[in-house]
Amino acid sequence: MGAAPIIIDTDPGQDDAIAILFALAAPERLDVRALTTVAGNVPLALTSRNARIVLDHAGRPDVPVYAGCPGPLVRPLVTAEHVHGKSGLEGVSLHEPGTELAKGHAVDFLINTLRDAPERNVTLCALGPLTNLAAALIQAPDIKRGIKSIVLMGGACFRPGNVTPAAEFNIYVDPHAASVVINSGAPITVLPLDASHQVLSTPARIERIGNIGNKAGKLVAAILAHAGHEAENLETDGGPLHDPCVIGYLLKPELFSGRHVNVEVETGCGLTLGETVVDWYRVTRRPANALWINEVDANGFYSLLIETLARLP
Ligand code: BDR
Ligand code: CA
Repeated sequence: MGAAPIIIDTDPGQDDAIAILFALAAPERLDVRALTTVAGNVPLALTSRNARIVLDHAGRPDVPVYAGCPGPLVRPLVTAEHVHGKSGLEGVSLHEPGTELAKGHAVDFLINTLRDAPERNVTLCALGPLTNLAAALIQAPDIKRGIKSIVLMGGACFRPGNVTPAAEFNIYVDPHAASVVINSGAPITVLPLDASHQVLSTPARIERIGNIGNKAGKLVAAILAHAGHEAENLETDGGPLHDPCVIGYLLKPELFSGRHVNVEVETGCGLTLGETVVDWYRVTRRPANALWINEVDANGFYSLLIETLARLP
């Protein structure tokens, strides 16, 4: 079987950068067709620049980057410089990217690619607010045909939110888009905070990554060394590695477990805006619309990350 075609929709973002490197390190399993960028952790101009900087660091400037939506469908943009730094890539030495953005809008690229794809072919990895994916699905609902699966990082059920007590950042930034995507009828897997808060980058794990002995390992260790904000909030010995869970799940799903459930997103205003309401006990009898991951083998995950990153320059 050849490598699975994937498109990474992203807002780099420190953990997005690690996820992109992780995916690029397994070319025989994952064929990264493009990165599509969205506003999220930092504004669109920066996520679009950062995506190309990460590709340069991975020695893969051939992967096209399409810029997408500059803000959420309905709400004003909320960003997270307090987590990822002003540049969005705190810990990475920045340079002017060697490549231009690809021509055309990310939403058009998604629509055209998915329309041309064989049935149930492309996996969409969503690492940021779901604005681009929702816009594509609203404009062209027929593209569902070409989607194998949407694997997204977002939401929380068994853990409190990280941007408000009720909400996780990606869903909070664009709850309307999240609701469209989750209820689109495409096969959805959700890697929420319930999962990512189990994979903590402890000093010992960061040291193992730094000691891989290649440029990628040094870069990831440097990013993690500059990513202390969440560990402070959680009072844990290391911050969570959110977006790389998506790639880890694609490479080794047996490290993860969860349940097929109904998920709805709170789009009304108030204290719970952006909350993912997960019917874990199936009390509503609403049909399941997502596989919700709530358990990860953290040691297995870090071993996979380290052995995979070791294959990059
Ligand atoms: C998510 O929010 C962003 O800050 C991270 O990149 C990740 O996608 C975690 O809540
Ligand atoms: Ca992200």
